[in-house]
Amino acid sequence: MELCFKVIGYPVKHSLSPWIHEQFLRKANLEGTYTINEIEPASFEEEIYQMKENPIDGFNVTVPYKQKIIPFLDGIDAYAEKIGAVNTVVNKAGKWIGYNTDGIGYLRSLEAKYPSVLENRSGRILIIGAGGAARGIYYALDEAGFRAIDLTNRTAAKANELIRFKNKETKSTIILLKDVKKYLEEYDLVIQTTSVGMKPNINDMIVSIPSLKPQMILSDIVYQPIRTSFLRQGEAKGANIHFGHTMLLYQAQLAFEIWTGVKVPIGNMDQDLQQILE
Ligand code: ATR
Repeated sequence: MELCFKVIGYPVKHSLSPWIHEQFLRKANLEGTYTINEIEPASFEEEIYQMKENPIDGFNVTVPYKQKIIPFLDGIDAYAEKIGAVNTVVNKAGKWIGYNTDGIGYLRSLEAKYPSVLENRSGRILIIGAGGAARGIYYALDEAGFRAIDLTNRTAAKANELIRFKNKETKSTIILLKDVKKYLEEYDLVIQTTSVGMKPNINDMIVSIPSLKPQMILSDIVYQPIRTSFLRQGEAKGANIHFGHTMLLYQAQLAFEIWTGVKVPIGNMDQDLQQILE
C-alpha cells in the first residue's frame, strides 16, 4: 500500500519538506506521497477532524500548530511533552502519537559536521533565544549529557521558564542579551535560534561578534539565507560555522524514521539543499 504523509501549517506553501521526504521515500524504496496541507487558523479544528477520517501514516506539524495539535493526539512522547511542542505525528493502529524531532535533528546535524562535539560533552554552550526551537535544542543537549548550557534572550523571563525541567546536574546561567557580547568568547558552541537575520532582514544580527575562542563553533538555525550575517561575521573571525538547513534535513530524517523505521542517510542532500537555497 502507498504510504501517505503530509505537512500541516500556515503559511506552509513553500515548505521544503516534500522535496526532502520524496527523496527519502525513493532512497528507502517505498511507495508513497508527501503533500502540503495549508490550514487557515480559523478552520484548524475542522480540518484536523477531517484528517482523522482519512487514512494517513503520519504528518509533520509546523508553525503555528506545534502546540495546538497536542489536544488532538492520543499519545505524546515524553520528550515532546517536556518541550510542549509536537512537529511529527505518527498513526499507530489508528492512534495519533506526537513526537518532536527538532532538537534531536539539530544534534544529529551537529554530529554529522562536528563529531568531536558529541564525543566530548564537556564544552560550554550558549543558546541565543528562548522560543520553541531553543526549547527543543536545549532539552536535546540536556538529555545528551551536556552540563553547561547557558541561555540569553531578549525576554530573560522566557529563558528562566525554559530551563524548568532540566537535569539537576546541568548548569544554566541566564545572561542578559545586552551583556552577552562580553561573554561570547568563553563558549565552545554558540547556537543562534531567533528569527533575527532571516530574509528579508538579512543584515540584522542578534549580537555582533568580538574575538572568538579558537576552534569555536557558531551555529545559526536560520537557513534563509544560508549564510546569515551572524555566521558571516563569525566566519570572518575564524570560527567554525554550522548551517541551519542541516537541522531541517536531520529533523526530517528522524520523522521519517519514526514513520517507517528506516533511517535514510543524508548523503549529498546537504549540498543539494544548500544549492537550492543559495
Ligand atoms: P521559534 O519557534 O522559531 O523558536 P518563537 O517561539 O516565536 O519562534 O521564538 C522566537 C525567538 O526569537 C524568541 O527567543 C524571541 O525573543 P523574545 O522571547 O524576547 O520574544 C526571539 N526574537 C524574535 N525577534 C527578535 C528580535 N528582533 N530581537 C531579539 N530577539 C528576537
